[in-house]
Amino acid sequence: YVLHYHVQHHPSTTPASAADREQKLKAIQFGRVFTDHMAVVKYSNGTWHDPEVKPYGPLSLDPSASVLHYGQAIFEGFKAYRQPDNSISLFRPEQNAERFNRSAHRLAMPAIPKELFIGAADALVKLDQSWVPGGSGESLYLRPFMIATDPFLGVRPSNEYLFLLIASPAGEYFPQGLKPVSVWASKEYVRAAPGGTGEAKCAGNYAASLLAQAEATQHGCDQVIWLDAIEREYIEEMGGMNLFFVYRKEGKPVIVTPQLTGTLLPGITRSTLLQLAADEGYEAEERRLSLTEVRNAIESGEISEVFACGTAAVITPVGLIKGRGFEVTINNNENGPVALALRDALLGIQRGTAADTHGWLHKV
Ligand code: COI
Repeated sequence: YVLHYHVQHHPSTTPASAADREQKLKAIQFGRVFTDHMAVVKYSNGTWHDPEVKPYGPLSLDPSASVLHYGQAIFEGFKAYRQPDNSISLFRPEQNAERFNRSAHRLAMPAIPKELFIGAADALVKLDQSWVPGGSGESLYLRPFMIATDPFLGVRPSNEYLFLLIASPAGEYFPQGLKPVSVWASKEYVRAAPGGTGEAKCAGNYAASLLAQAEATQHGCDQVIWLDAIEREYIEEMGGMNLFFVYRKEGKPVIVTPQLTGTLLPGITRSTLLQLAADEGYEAEERRLSLTEVRNAIESGEISEVFACGTAAVITPVGLIKGRGFEVTINNNENGPVALALRDALLGIQRGTAADTHGWLHKV
């Protein structure tokens, strides 16, 4: 990338001490600790301007800022990985930049140039490079987001926006570590309907998921499985992650994932795994999958594994699916070999211990 934008540097005069940072990097909890700096880019009068990295800290917003009322807010998530030679690489950041702009379009927000999105990440990660952990399963989680800041209560797209990027050291996403999760198939609530915002990574989708997540918890499950809005039968995704089902055909794994119908979040880990599955010689299918098909195929042993994937948690096996009047256990509620093999293949590329044959790493 040719960086046409000059990112202004305003380094913190009170960064965390090395000892404080080491302490915080010891027992990492997802999303709790943030690095010393953040990147900020302003949008007004139809252009992005004044990109800067500055000390991490509170924002000052007008109480009438339209994001606080009508929810024009989108975000992304991607990771920076420490490489064996101690350099740092981002994983497929251009994919996140493209999806960010598709989300922006759906929420009537302005697109941000890809080189500015990635340039902001490069600048922040460089400045806070001592915060990139190097342990197994560890990375620096990057959270870009955009909010509408017009001080105006009329319902229309804002004219002013802020793009921000914050960074948080990450280990395992789920507190229990790499262990199968149990999921509740919700027929009460839907995540997304055709023509809605299901494909966009907008804040409101996540707000709307929380009550269903609470319902899952009441049924003793870790996560919710979303079904389609119309028939409440076709499997869409799990919580904030995409789902994969491993069938066996003549002993060989066939990987099936719900097709992108416009109501699913088009996961970057999802598309990466489809490529890695092909590399491993697995057959892979994107198609509609009903809950009934999945229940029957688990009971008959045709489905040997189910797992979810996303940037934050990478790959998480699913050990139990529950819904009104049924409960099926998968692979004795243990981590399955295909999920583990794909996870190893993916983490190997991300951490630079396996060849990056698809050019997915972006060196900072
Ligand atoms: C992911 O990275 O899988 C997510 O979407 C989870 C994130 C919202 C914490």
